[in-house]
Formats: sequence, structure tokens, C-alpha cells
Amino acid sequence: MTEHSIRTALVTGADRGLGYEMTVRLLDEGFRVYAGKFNDEYSLLDRLAEEYPELRPVQLNVSVYEEIVNVEKIIREECGYLDLLVSNAAFMGGPQNDQVGGDVPIDFDLMRFSFNTNTAPAPVLVDVFLPLLLKSDYRRLHFTSSEISSVRLMKRTGSMRYAMTKSALNVGVRLMFNELRPLGFRFRLFQPGWMKRMMPDGTLDPRARLDPKQSAEMAVKLILEDRPDEDRLTLVDYLGHELSF
Ligand SMILES: NC(=O)c1ccc[n+]([C@@H]2O[C@H](COP(=O)([O-])OP(=O)(O)OC[C@H]3O[C@@H](n4cnc5c(N)ncnc54)[C@H](OP(=O)(O)O)[C@@H]3O)[C@@H](O)[C@H]2O)c1
Repeated sequence: MTEHSIRTALVTGADRGLGYEMTVRLLDEGFRVYAGKFNDEYSLLDRLAEEYPELRPVQLNVSVYEEIVNVEKIIREECGYLDLLVSNAAFMGGPQNDQVGGDVPIDFDLMRFSFNTNTAPAPVLVDVFLPLLLKSDYRRLHFTSSEISSVRLMKRTGSMRYAMTKSALNVGVRLMFNELRPLGFRFRLFQPGWMKRMMPDGTLDPRARLDPKQSAEMAVKLILEDRPDEDRLTLVDYLGHELSF
């Protein structure tokens, strides 16, 4: 079976922010969404599930292999295929002034933790879900990156840890693109912009520029549209503009 009556997506890091808003947009577009829950402080997904019968919140810490495998088992048994994988979860905390020769030493443990959250899970997720993705003709993969990932645009100091995790993510996505594009996969590498942080009650911290809803609208639009140049991997921002990376 390759043409499915209902499109099915998995979104990681969906408790709040961009992942939550992408989940809402995909549900509105008629997708069944398996939405990764990670932080017990947030119950926005549970409330959303009362409104949308096609929403399935699933426990998913993307840094834990067993949890990825468990979600694959749930989707395989309930559905048998996956049309879209949205790899979005990230850790953005910790000091932002991390740089060589800085005021504080670079925190090696935090560096490893960040890679284990922002970088390593993306190819592991695709690897684990590949058999289910191959059961679909849709075959779409979205990765949330950042402008900070761009080696060419990078002019700042600090943010060593976070920037490195996103640049490495881009390389991983490029390698997956080389391998999976010939099998018909469509790739979306997305820069969502500087978004306001979502609080447990769904309100937004006013610091930052964008409502995550705005970025989610563009992210889902890019996922749904068929591009004429799918053989080119591009980093595209919340305005739909292509960035150098
Ligand atoms: N915010 C920005 O301005 C900005 C700019 C450029 C790119 N981005 C990227 O956009 C994406 C979404 O950002 P956002 O602003 O929506 O962030 P966010 O509000 O922090 O949402 C990210 C979600 O991922 C969760 N998460 C963290 N570690 C996880 C893990 N190991 N497994 C599963 N989930 C985990 C977070 O949980 P917690 O609630 O525990 O943190 C949170 O629910 C990220 O990839 C980020 O790097 C953000």
C-alpha cells in the first residue's frame, strides 16, 4: 500500500513552540499526527487532543534510542506507514556566551548533551522510521535548523555549542539527501527565525520577534508544496527565502 486515505506525520519536540504549532497546522491540513511529548510541565497537547481526534501524543525523548524504537512500534502497529517525519526537538538552553577564550570554560558535558539532542537524533529517527516511510509515496522529511547553522553567514562569536549542533545537523541532512533523494524523498531544511518562547499555558514570552505560529505556517506550507527543484537541498526561512549555508 502506498496511497493512504489519511496522511500520517510524526513531529518531535511538540509540547510547545514551533513543534506544537506545526502539529496544529498539520492537523488542520487533515494529517493524523503523532506528536512527541517530552516535558511534563506542558499539557497543551493533551488539551489539543480533545479537539482533534487524529492527534496522538506519544512520549518521545529523541536522545533515547529505546523511546524512538517504541514510537516506531506504536505507529507500525496502529498505522503501518509514515508519510512525514518532522525532526524539530532541540535544546537551546545553557550559556549563550560559550566561545574559546571566553569568561567560562566551554562545558564539554553540555556540548555532548546538545549534540545528543539537536544533531544525532535526526539520522537515527530517519533510520528507525525508514521502513515505514518507504511504505508511503509521500516520503517527506522536515528538519528544523537555524540561520546560525550557516558557515557562510556566521559572523558572530559565542553560541559555539548551539551553532555547531545545527551546522552538523545540516551535514547529516545533506548525507541523507544524497542517499534518499533518489528514492523519491523530499527534504525540507528550515530556519524558523527568532521566535517567542511558549509558556506552559500557551502564552508567549514577548522577547523575540516572531510568533511560532507564523513560522509553523510557512514550515507546513513548504512541506505541502511540490517544488520544481526537489533535487536541490535548500535552507529556507520563515519568509520562504533561501539562505546560503
Ligand atoms: N526559538 C528560536 O528563536 C529558534 C531560532 C532558530 C531555530 N530554532 C529551532 O526551532 C526548533 C523549535 O524551537 P522552539 O523555539 O519551538 O523551541 P522550544 O520552545 O524549546 O521547543 C522545543 C521542544 O523540544 C523539546 N525537547 C528538548 N529536548 C528534547 C528531547 N531530548 N527530546 C524531545 N523533545 C525535546 C523541548 O522541551 P523543553 O520544554 O523541556 O525545552 C520543547 O518542547 C528547534 O529545533 C530550534 O533549534 C529556534
